[in-house]
Amino acid sequence: MAAVALRGVHKSFGSTAVVHGVDLGIKDGEFCVLVGPSGCGKSTLLRMIAGLEEISGGEIDIGGRVVNNLAPKERDIAMVFQNYALYPHMTVRDNMAFSLKLAGVAKEQLEQRVADAAGILGLTEYLERYPRQLSGGQRQRVAMGRAIVRKPQVFLFDEPLSNLDAKLRVAMRTEIKSLHQRLKTTSVYVTHDQIEAMTMADKIVVMNAGKVEQIGTPLELYDNPANLFVAGFIGSPAMNFIPGKISGAGIDLGSGISLPLKTDVKGGSSVILGVRPEHLAVSPQGLPAEVVVVEPTGADTQIFCKLAGVDVNAVVRERHEFHPGESIRLAPQATFLFDPASGARLA
Ligand SMILES: Nc1ncnc2c1ncn2[C@@H]1O[C@H](COP(=O)(O)OP(=O)(O)OP(=O)(O)O)[C@@H](O)[C@H]1O
Ligand SMILES: [Mg+2]
Repeated sequence: MAAVALRGVHKSFGSTAVVHGVDLGIKDGEFCVLVGPSGCGKSTLLRMIAGLEEISGGEIDIGGRVVNNLAPKERDIAMVFQNYALYPHMTVRDNMAFSLKLAGVAKEQLEQRVADAAGILGLTEYLERYPRQLSGGQRQRVAMGRAIVRKPQVFLFDEPLSNLDAKLRVAMRTEIKSLHQRLKTTSVYVTHDQIEAMTMADKIVVMNAGKVEQIGTPLELYDNPANLFVAGFIGSPAMNFIPGKISGAGIDLGSGISLPLKTDVKGGSSVILGVRPEHLAVSPQGLPAEVVVVEPTGADTQIFCKLAGVDVNAVVRERHEFHPGESIRLAPQATFLFDPASGARLA
């Protein structure tokens, strides 16, 4: 196992810069998730850690050793990809043993490691099968088995669950997490799915357009987003944003609606008020809103409405029989303020 450190890491493809200076420390044994929208540079960053992509600037350190100029096989890492990349003409056993054979590991030890990994992953009865005879989830487990047998210092995952259906994804993410709790191997996991990030990570790195927006534990990011991007990206359904102006003892949201709020932000400043859907309660003391659509999910009810001319989503536990066009009142239980110009969180 090993700590991983990225210092000022840059990447350009030709004249196009896609990663603009990433600093990141991952502790020994930590499960770190890189999350962000499509094209933000997650895979590129992971591939640079793996050595599959050259580093244009900065330093990558694995286990106290700068690896910039080391080939992938000298970095003591194992990567698990989205498309499994299993050899179709090899059995599960041979797929898992392949890299050990290449590395010249003695037969006895090789068999032991494959047997151990198969046991951990529940693949023991499938060792003689071919990939085509397995389900998607089983194939993904074989792909993980190939990584585990190598006992690498670091696991790198690039969206390993995105080919699986929704139910299997949830099951597999629990499996990967419990696997990590047993093996405690330092892991870097890429996904664009913020729920996967929230549920699996010790540490989340939110990326956007080749830059790190914020690094923190899942709850730090949820409770204390540093800016509009992180606030809107982490949390599901997404946070509501309503533009307003600080005035008197609160925020003027327009349409004659004002939210009383204590803040140090200067009077007259434009702000964006952020409220999570789960922090809006139906209450007679709330702000006036007009119901657009109501969606009961069973466990809770999503109320889509217009508040001060803005689309706002509220998620409530109680069952309400609201109808489109009905006037209701929604009271924010917790709020965030952001600077509309920079997107930064305001005190
Ligand atoms: N070999 C390449 N040559 C030129 N541009 C590339 C190359 N590989 C990636 N890019 C560009 O770099 C940017 C980052 O790509 P990357 O694959 O890292 O994104 P990602 O965050 O993994 O996205 P996704 O969630 O869609 O997988 C994109 O704009 C992409 O077009
Ligand atoms: Mg990618």
